[in-house]
Amino acid sequence: MAERGLIIAIDGPAGAGKSTVARVVARRLGYLFINTGAMYRAVAWKALREGVPLDDAGAVGRLAGESLIELTGGVDSTRVLIDGRDITGEIVTPHVGQAASVVSTISAVRRALVARQQWMGRAGCVVMEGRDIGTQVFPDAEVKIYLDASPEARAQRRYDEDLARGLAVASLEEMKEQIERRDHSDKTRADSPLTQAEEAIYIDSSAMTVDEVVDRILEIAERREDRR
Ligand code: DC
Repeated sequence: MAERGLIIAIDGPAGAGKSTVARVVARRLGYLFINTGAMYRAVAWKALREGVPLDDAGAVGRLAGESLIELTGGVDSTRVLIDGRDITGEIVTPHVGQAASVVSTISAVRRALVARQQWMGRAGCVVMEGRDIGTQVFPDAEVKIYLDASPEARAQRRYDEDLARGLAVASLEEMKEQIERRDHSDKTRADSPLTQAEEAIYIDSSAMTVDEVVDRILEIAERREDRR
């Protein structure tokens, strides 16, 4: 069997910089970039839109199984589609993020999305980011990174991002509280909680620039490739 390309799994809490960093790493390597949080957000968006209660595990699970979620476009122009409708701009709001955190606790939702993520990354040459990539989606990924940052640094980044997007911004203090609530729910849910995979390399990005984090991951990937 032909050897597949590298899989680079980047996990970590909200606001640690996973998407930004994963996108640049993918661009530099000519790899596919897959933001799995967008898939949970898409399910949450549809449940909200259809008035399906987020805590109705059966209904939200069915909705996830029946929906066609696509990530299209290149590294710098990723679009998120659900049932053919482009919802890229609609899923970035804090409201949808919070709802995504709720639907991501439903095992049937996770099963449906994890199976698709495994299919999307099956050929390798992919940078996939989320919460459970190194632990559940690709436990055999060659490169596993756990990207973290202090709650203060993450709140500041989310605050700046929301401002730049023209969204209504909460105060910095509220933002930090939201982040801490989300950390708690992502780390304590029963199914696939956010944890650092045993072999994952821990990077604290609080005081690092995007380029510094990217260079560190590229260095790790290069070393891993040499060992193959
Ligand atoms: O990374 P994000 O903020 O877009 O993720 C939204 C929510 O989706 C987050 O609260 C946890 C969940 N999620 C998950 O459970 N597993 C993933 N692989 C990605 C995201």
